[in-house]
Amino acid sequence: MLTDYQMKRLAIFVSGGGTNLQQIADYFAPNPDVKVVCVVSNNKDAYANVRAKNLGIPLVMLNSKAKVHDAELQSQYEVAETFDFQDKAFSEYLKSLGVDLVVLAGFLWLIPQHLLDAFPMRIINIHPALLPKYGGKGFYGHHVHEAVVAHHEKESGITIHYVNEHYDSGDIIFQKSVVVEENDTADDVAAKIHILERDNFPVVIDKLLEKL
Ligand code: GAR
Repeated sequence: MLTDYQMKRLAIFVSGGGTNLQQIADYFAPNPDVKVVCVVSNNKDAYANVRAKNLGIPLVMLNSKAKVHDAELQSQYEVAETFDFQDKAFSEYLKSLGVDLVVLAGFLWLIPQHLLDAFPMRIINIHPALLPKYGGKGFYGHHVHEAVVAHHEKESGITIHYVNEHYDSGDIIFQKSVVVEENDTADDVAAKIHILERDNFPVVIDKLLEKL
């Protein structure tokens, strides 16, 4: 076991269902050297918030200043903190938690410069397509799979990449493809992609942490 000082700390950002959050947390649960120190959400209705609560991970809400005083939300998810996403105080908060790697797991907002400056080459994203195809603003979640099917692609896949100031365009760390059959629906493709995400995202994060 590493000392507390050497322990690696993750912050996981979410906007939706949180299956990737769940898989990453489950993967690292038996490992005392890696800890998910907070889940950061920009969506008060995200099921990922419930997962954070069930996992016992502090939840940070973004741009919800009004909701800081919302007792119902507070008690529903036990919100630890709320921040304005554009405010440097948010980066400082993550630094104060000792975050080593920021993981975007279905997080849909563009990352502000103060966060890029605070965590250079330490923010990664997973995208449910083979970038540069089907990336950029508007291409997220199911929209991606619908476009892949509409364009009769023969394959799709996942891309894990560093995050920069543009959507889906940072340096690529890892890609894995899967065959799209002629009769596959967007739901079929989504199911295949979820399996790729489950089998690869936590392992890729683990390998990156080894090098930090
Ligand atoms: C995942 O498929 C992820 O690749 C995708 O959103 C889904 C989130 O699912 N991300 C993007 O589209 C980013 N542009 P989850 O909330 O169940 O992990």
